[in-house]
Amino acid sequence: MPYREQIPVDKGIDNTVKLLLEGYNYITNRRNKFGRDIFETRILGGKKAICIAGEEAVKTFYDEDKLIRKGAAPKRLRQTLFGEHAIQTMDGDNHRHRKELFMSLMTKERLDDISSLLESHLENAVDKWEKQKMVVVYNDMVQLLTKVACAWAGIPLDDKAVFRRATQLEAMFDSAGALGLRHWKGRISRNSAEVWLRELIGQVRNGKVNANKDSALYKMSWYQDKNGEVLNEQIVAVELLNILRPIVAVSVYITFEALALYENPQEKDKLRTEGFEYAELFVREVRRYYPFFPLLTAKVREDFLWNGHDFRKGNLVLLDLYGTNHHPDIWEKPYTFNPERFRDREESFYNFIPQGGGDYYRGHRCPGEWLTIELMKVVLEFLISKVEYVVPKQDLRYSMIRIPSIPGSRFVIIDVKRI
Ligand code: HEM
Repeated sequence: MPYREQIPVDKGIDNTVKLLLEGYNYITNRRNKFGRDIFETRILGGKKAICIAGEEAVKTFYDEDKLIRKGAAPKRLRQTLFGEHAIQTMDGDNHRHRKELFMSLMTKERLDDISSLLESHLENAVDKWEKQKMVVVYNDMVQLLTKVACAWAGIPLDDKAVFRRATQLEAMFDSAGALGLRHWKGRISRNSAEVWLRELIGQVRNGKVNANKDSALYKMSWYQDKNGEVLNEQIVAVELLNILRPIVAVSVYITFEALALYENPQEKDKLRTEGFEYAELFVREVRRYYPFFPLLTAKVREDFLWNGHDFRKGNLVLLDLYGTNHHPDIWEKPYTFNPERFRDREESFYNFIPQGGGDYYRGHRCPGEWLTIELMKVVLEFLISKVEYVVPKQDLRYSMIRIPSIPGSRFVIIDVKRI
């Protein structure tokens, strides 16, 4: 008989409010209290959920025989962040087939294309920024990345429409952990963006719009699923938004990148002297250190026993992303910002998971991770060697409850000058 052990329990009939009030630290706080990387809770109307963290937990979370995604993501997230019937909610062969579509967009050539697009948009932005009294980095990056994302994905975007589409794309990820008004803004934005893209996909299919064969617009419009059928226009719209929205969301990491340079001024000299190789380490550390998505959800496929703990069919499982990226067994001084920790580090699919873990092609790991890194490197080089600026006094604090987190001032710079 395998041995069985009681899982510690966070008592309460529904701890959703505690989860919302403690945000990124909800799981870590209880792991510290129980002295364990596993505990049970109840959320979302009293559903039983097992919270796990650490490298072994990540391996289990990405074991398809044990966990599935169908029915795991709360409806509120599907209504705002993901959309209905998106890749995030699929399993098995159907998921793998659609994942190949996403990965086929991430070739070296296409990553170079998006880097060049961002470089030239930044280049143009400096002319404007030099004349402005101040620049709010996050706000300007949301606008700029909306243009970059659409251009890269092959989606026509009129100058007059940039602000509206940028506001919608931002609202979709900004509502990820929100209740009330922010949640509704996300929902309304998603509905309106889906209508916009459905129409465009229809025009690609009836030949009224000519899309470049390498573009996401073309590939997704004509993608055939495992059964050889094209997807309906609504699902293509959802998956196109799964490209546009997260590219715009890279603005959050870019804002943290600017903050990291400001909070650690010695890093600028290192980046200037060591260049490319150190930029890689720096970008990794920004993604590890600062909060973005706190956790992931999955469901138990069939009963299994893990480290002596019972996982019952249908139980929710929450993987602590933020906590695993700060886990003391994996990271030395996890709450210190130190890109050097990534030098000569042996990385596995399971021990550094800001954008999920496991294999890109087989599992749900973020297909946009390389693209995110490329965009962050372009901005880093720009901030280090293309412009000078002053960071005035402002509220740079970021919340550990608001999801996604972002510095209060959205990072203001003044006196921008081209070098
Ligand atoms: C802002 C930076 C980003 C962060 C923090 C981020 C984070 C994540 C996380 C945590 C997941 C879930 C992994 C899982 O469920 O196991 C994910 C999945 C996904 N991401 Fe990203 N991501 C980012 C950028 C991107 C970009 C730039 C793209 C596309 C261009 C993208 C497209 C996706 C898609 C389509 C999925 C679903 C994959 C699947 O279910 O197989 N993400 N991302």
